[in-house]
Amino acid sequence: MPTLPIPSAISMQGKRVLVTGAASGIGKATAIVLAELGAELVLCDLSAMDATRDEVQSRGATCATAQGDLTDGAFMASLFAGERLHAVAHCAGILMGRPWNEDANWNARFHRMMDVNVRVPLELAFAATEHMAAHGGGHIVLVGSVAGKTGGTSLSTPPDYSASKGAVHALVKWMSRNAVGRGVMVNAVAPGPVQTAMTRNSNMGPTLPLGRMGQPEELAWPIAFLCSSAASYMSGAILDVNGGAFVG
Ligand SMILES: NC(=O)c1ccc[n+]([C@@H]2O[C@H](COP(=O)([O-])OP(=O)(O)OC[C@H]3O[C@@H](n4cnc5c(N)ncnc54)[C@H](O)[C@@H]3O)[C@@H](O)[C@H]2O)c1
Repeated sequence: MPTLPIPSAISMQGKRVLVTGAASGIGKATAIVLAELGAELVLCDLSAMDATRDEVQSRGATCATAQGDLTDGAFMASLFAGERLHAVAHCAGILMGRPWNEDANWNARFHRMMDVNVRVPLELAFAATEHMAAHGGGHIVLVGSVAGKTGGTSLSTPPDYSASKGAVHALVKWMSRNAVGRGVMVNAVAPGPVQTAMTRNSNMGPTLPLGRMGQPEELAWPIAFLCSSAASYMSGAILDVNGGAFVG
């Protein structure tokens, strides 16, 4: 039986990591934590990522940016055309306005939600698996939600969002089955309510077990762990990171 080295801390030194959704919230915090741990970063988002890039570079990390829409297949493919990626933290996602059943554009909105929150993680994880398997393995981390397990933390959680996150959890299991034999580990975090642009109108903090919403960094550390070799025997897991809001 091989004896594994036991480092004193998680290190991402020498690892190149793609972080999507890196302009904001959980993705931005994840990029910063990974930079702290020594990773080289490729940041991706629809929006400009100057603030994230500055924070990452101020920590001495090498950083490239790729601005574009992940629903565009050619743009997504370009992310895997370069040098080896050791991990992908896919944090991009959307939650659209409510009430859903009064939304005149419901049909289009539903399809956009499924496109961004379900098709993109599937195709991204699939492309990442092919890329990483060809380069000796790696780690993929998707972002689900407590809403995908419970239906939502409040009555106002839109059903299209909850359904999309339940689908992400199912995809983690499906992708893991397909990827783990090729050295690629696929996991997810399922966050509870986190203070980001996505939840800017939420005031549910006092109703939660810890009396507050999570901070993006509190998701970034578990995501960084799942990107690292400290998670070398984990695949197919959905890690609850919700401050005790749901214990499943
Ligand atoms: N904030 C929460 O309470 C919470 C809870 C559970 C799960 N999540 C999930 O965490 C992830 C990150 O959310 P956040 O709270 O940081 O939100 P956020 O809105 O702060 O960040 C999401 C980022 O994704 C980017 N993005 C959206 N669509 C894109 C596309 N098509 N192509 C490229 N980039 C795109 C946005 O531009 C944005 O910068 C999402 O998947 C979200 O569903 C968030």
